Amino acid sequence: MDIDQLVKNRQKGYSLPQAFYNHPEVFKRDMERVFRKEWLLAGAGQQIPEHGDFMTFNVAGDSIIITRGKDREIRAFHNVCRHRGARICLKAKGNAKNLACPYHQWVYNLEGKLVSARIIEKEEGFNKDAYSLKRVHVKMLCDLIYICLTENPPDFEGTKSAIEPQLSWHQPEKTKVCYQHEFDVKANWKLVLENNRECYHCATVHKQFMKANYDLRLFEDEYKDRQKNYYEKWEKLGIPTQAITFPGESSYRCERLILKEGFATETLSGEPSAPLLGKLPEADTGSVRCITLPNAWYHANCDYIMLSYVMPVDSGHTKVRVIYLVHEDAVENQDYVIEDVTAVWNATSEQDQFVCEAVQAGVNSSFYEPGPFSKLVEGWVEDFVQWYLKRVGSASVPG
Ligand code: FES
Ligand SMILES: [Fe+2]
Repeated sequence: MDIDQLVKNRQKGYSLPQAFYNHPEVFKRDMERVFRKEWLLAGAGQQIPEHGDFMTFNVAGDSIIITRGKDREIRAFHNVCRHRGARICLKAKGNAKNLACPYHQWVYNLEGKLVSARIIEKEEGFNKDAYSLKRVHVKMLCDLIYICLTENPPDFEGTKSAIEPQLSWHQPEKTKVCYQHEFDVKANWKLVLENNRECYHCATVHKQFMKANYDLRLFEDEYKDRQKNYYEKWEKLGIPTQAITFPGESSYRCERLILKEGFATETLSGEPSAPLLGKLPEADTGSVRCITLPNAWYHANCDYIMLSYVMPVDSGHTKVRVIYLVHEDAVENQDYVIEDVTAVWNATSEQDQFVCEAVQAGVNSSFYEPGPFSKLVEGWVEDFVQWYLKRVGSASVPG
């Protein structure tokens, strides 16, 4: 398969040819040039709040262990034993004093150092220090964990400086996990991202989401008037209003959006479903939208933060983790009810799973051919596709 040729021949403004969505060779290249090169959201610090907590994050064949050490630092390691390569953590999360390999019981501490290796450690010439777990780069953004699998990661400062001034108002470090769910989506990761990059389908697919949210391109006048009033109010409160949308073909976007009248948050009633987060002076402060390509989108509302991040499994299969964070002091069934916090995003995630799987099924047909993106409501899908092609093709994207 000549992927470079496919990239060159791709018709601008149209969905991608079939091979991009279902061919194992393209998937392999996606992993090499995108998922093993870029910064990936791997969860929130509050998913592993205590010393000894760990969780795993998987990208195709690679598994990464993320730990909270004694010093409370978060670290990430390849989940591959340095003896003969067994996967060490087989559970998605847990708490442990040490990480012990299930095969011959080599034991690593939470800092990744090999602390014991039965029998072989007494053998001449064996040096435990030479067999620490392989480290994975970690950067924290507020309390969110980003990892990068390449030796020389790209810059992360742009992402951090775009998102932190907004997200810090919601103080993710002072939250707790209220609920988490993993969706097993039978669709290529790019279909999941493309679906996220447009709201053309929102009116037809997302009844719950559309209660609180504007379809930005279609309600422009009403939106602009309300936005102006909110921006003035927020600026007085010191809350930034600047939208940052993939500057210079970068991988990040962050914007505080206004919600529809009567909605202080993304709940079915519009009322906050949990205590006010962070430093927010009041509930009616809109909803922060963040995207970091290639694998994450999150919404910070006044009462909860919803994180979604994608872990590709193979060319037709993607796991999507959705995490809900509420104030750390909030008590379940007293200060919040899980069903109320999750109502909008649980429905939205299920609906998105349904449409992504429908697209994958259709795209797999021998009669599929790329179709046109709307310039009005699918411009961001084209931007995502361009972002992707730039990384995946060795030639530059044709203008
Ligand atoms: S493979 Fe892990 S101890 Fe042997
Ligand atoms: Fe959607």
